[in-house]
Amino acid sequence: MKLGFIGTGALTSAIVTGLKSAADNSVSVLLSPRNEEIAAGLALRYPDVRVAPDNQAVLDSCDTIMLAVRPQIAHDVLAELQFRRDHRVVSLIATLSRKEVAALIAPVEHVTKALPMPMIAHRQGTTIICPPDRHMAALFGRLGKVIEVEDSSEFDALSVVTATFATYFKYLDTIHGWLKGHGVADARARDYIVTLYKALANAPETTPDTGFMHLAEDYATRGGINEQIFRELTARNVFDIFAESLDGVYRRISPGAAPRIGPLS
Ligand SMILES: NC(=O)c1ccc[n+]([C@@H]2O[C@H](COP(=O)([O-])OP(=O)(O)OC[C@H]3O[C@@H](n4cnc5c(N)ncnc54)[C@H](OP(=O)(O)O)[C@@H]3O)[C@@H](O)[C@H]2O)c1
Repeated sequence: MKLGFIGTGALTSAIVTGLKSAADNSVSVLLSPRNEEIAAGLALRYPDVRVAPDNQAVLDSCDTIMLAVRPQIAHDVLAELQFRRDHRVVSLIATLSRKEVAALIAPVEHVTKALPMPMIAHRQGTTIICPPDRHMAALFGRLGKVIEVEDSSEFDALSVVTATFATYFKYLDTIHGWLKGHGVADARARDYIVTLYKALANAPETTPDTGFMHLAEDYATRGGINEQIFRELTARNVFDIFAESLDGVYRRISPGAAPRIGPLS
């Protein structure tokens, strides 16, 4: 496989870093020249990673192409390029549907959407792929877990999960700020939160048959301090509001999608 990237930014950097730190790191990579600094840095760091003179040279030399430009410029960038029918193209552009991308890169027959996350650089996390594609599943499988889905609405629904990361860190930041406000040293507060939440993150994997709500109930001892916060936030509809935000992101990602089926469990 000769793998080319159109757009060399944060996500491309993460994918190339992950690929080149995997046991089988033999894949040959050709990068488009922007961002110049990131592309030059990757080429310097890894063997068999080169920088092409322009975007078209990436297409002309590679059989597999990852599209990794921002959605705002994707139309302009892609419209200028000559794709071949036999290119295998993977779009990483989060907010463009596979159909929209396919229309922009005609006559390519094989177009896949994939959603890797930056933690792929450390070969962690999961990449979702639609439709199922064994070549891409094998490639991303070197970099973490892969979920292949048939249905684009399901792909879009799964994508919504990735919109919750910032809120997760804000949640931890609230605890951190509260601890500091009560005189706990910054580093000690951070370390305590990080180690506890790392351990908590393992709980669903160590008890795979236990639902999240069941885990919540396990921790919310009746009359205890976990139950207190859980009850207070629930009473203030914090979780309903959160679910409404998930709905809003889903509508943005998938404008024609059907509404949520029933209330939250
Ligand atoms: N980052 C994520 O967590 C993430 C996750 C999932 C999906 N995605 C998707 O992945 C895509 C890339 O995201 P990103 O975070 O890597 O963005 P990014 O860091 O902004 O990278 C995009 C790169 O495209 C380059 N570029 C600009 N104009 C170009 C052109 N005409 N031809 C080729 N390259 C050009 C930019 O170079 P300059 O710096 O020189 O402008 C920039 O380095 C987006 O569509 C995003 O939706 C990102």
